[in-house]
Amino acid sequence: MNNKIIIINGPNLNLLGEREQSQYGTITFKKLKENCLSKSKELGLSVEFTQSNVEGEIVNLIQDSIKKFDGIIINAAAFTHTSVAIRDALNIYKKPIIELHISNIFKREEFRHKSLISDIVSGGIFGLGANGYILAIIAMQKLLKNEN
Ligand code: DQA
Repeated sequence: MNNKIIIINGPNLNLLGEREQSQYGTITFKKLKENCLSKSKELGLSVEFTQSNVEGEIVNLIQDSIKKFDGIIINAAAFTHTSVAIRDALNIYKKPIIELHISNIFKREEFRHKSLISDIVSGGIFGLGANGYILAIIAMQKLLKNEN
């Protein structure tokens, strides 16, 4: 049976293509979703691509993932730097988790240098643009097949 993964996107990522193109490039959220679905299909993964601007909804998505998904790829966006609730939820999830950021958070304002989730995830990708999502899907497939 295919492995099932979920990609969780946090606040404002629905506005990709419109927001701060110098940080996030010109790709739209819709196109990003299409690219992720197509790469996952190519690799034989089932993927659910989600986005929420609401912290509690992201906590619910993570809790629901315990039974439903074999791995989580998460760009928690601004909540990366603030949310103990999202950290705690991820800490309960015992399967692979990849943290993702489109921009290089360490090259930006100091408040973005701190991630509340980096020390509890399997690994992370940052600063490689929207292509980071494709790299994360490839990495997740390898983690799930124990090829890492
Ligand atoms: C981001 C980086 C965060 O600091 C920011 O709040 C975002 C997007 C990224 O993908 O580079 O919204 O997670």
